[in-house]
Amino acid sequence: MPRAYLDNNATTPVLPEVLAVMQPFFGEHFGNASSSHHHGQETRAALERARESVAVLLSCRASEVVFTSGGTEADNLAIFGLVKAGDHVVTSTIEHHAVLNACKRLEEMGCEVTYLPVDGQALVNPDDLKRALRPNTKLISIMMANNETGVLQSVAEIGKIAKEADVYFHTDAVQSAGKVPVNVADIQCDLLSISGHKIHAPQGIGALYVRKGTLLQPLFYGGRHERSRRAGTENVPGIVGLGKAAELAMRGFTDGSVAKIADLRDQIQNTITESIELVGVNSGRAPRAPNTTNIYFDCIEGEAMVIALDLKGVAVSTGAACSSGAIEPSHVLTAMGLSADRARASIRFSLGKQNTSEDVDLLLEMLPGTVARLRELSPVYNRPAEKTL
Ligand SMILES: Cc1ncc(COP(=O)(O)O)c(C=O)c1O
Repeated sequence: MPRAYLDNNATTPVLPEVLAVMQPFFGEHFGNASSSHHHGQETRAALERARESVAVLLSCRASEVVFTSGGTEADNLAIFGLVKAGDHVVTSTIEHHAVLNACKRLEEMGCEVTYLPVDGQALVNPDDLKRALRPNTKLISIMMANNETGVLQSVAEIGKIAKEADVYFHTDAVQSAGKVPVNVADIQCDLLSISGHKIHAPQGIGALYVRKGTLLQPLFYGGRHERSRRAGTENVPGIVGLGKAAELAMRGFTDGSVAKIADLRDQIQNTITESIELVGVNSGRAPRAPNTTNIYFDCIEGEAMVIALDLKGVAVSTGAACSSGAIEPSHVLTAMGLSADRARASIRFSLGKQNTSEDVDLLLEMLPGTVARLRELSPVYNRPAEKTL
């Protein structure tokens, strides 16, 4: 059965070039990067080369890159590394749970957290941020691209406000790195998170950019790895893979692969909105990452659509979460004002470097019939013929 994987914001496949550079580090080059003999030196050199590649992707110094186990750890290191009881933190209601639940924990620890609302396009208003700042505000954590809608916040404007107020600024760039240029000097952030598996490196590797001079309390206690910012023997194959993926991500801005992804995304979005009734693009008027579109299909249960498309070989997702057996609508879509029904009727399509026009063709072939069938079953859907009666 032909299959189309269009859920790249969940995870991306490791690219063959990435796997090829990782493979020797599972065998031939097995040394511990902290060992002073030949084997250690070999892996240390590979690790530092990877750090350079990640630094190029983020336009920072190599010494400012701290390797972590992924985006979640990078977010947690940024937040718990800086904030202490009694501090105030500003974040937004549409952050990933890696930030939101870290902030919930901060509240339990005696910190105050302001969750900024978003407008109908899921954008934070920089004036709301200015108004939220207090004398004890320690950190602003606002994401660059949202994982569900792809919406890009005005991070440069937020960075400017943070700088003027002398408050640390962390941005979760897990869904923007490799999709839009990420330049820490332009953003004026102090901390920025990325994750390997969103850019075709393996799961379980990520990095935190830490601006020179930013003192972080480590999350783990142990050896003096990563300049005492992250204890634990390094995941060398993962780091080497992340370095290669960062190189390929950089190349994507000039070799046409990011542009190709944007074209495929637009084709999905335009065809659906032009040919299927009762649909709309969530955050369609906001700046967005070029690989993501989130579309509501009224009178449909998104989770039913995910299963029906999966049976036809097409992998997509909803932002819904299952809690205590009930499907909770996405916190991102409800925060931007969608009704619970419309949020539950929304589907995320997200593309990666491996996607082809055949994948898009398969989706667009399978989708109309699936939508029609699910709507036939819907108690709230009035078929067009009946509507005219
Ligand atoms: C915006 C965002 N932040 C953080 C994470 C967590 O990254 P990881 O899966 O590497 O822990 C994700 C993963 O979905 C994400 O989309």
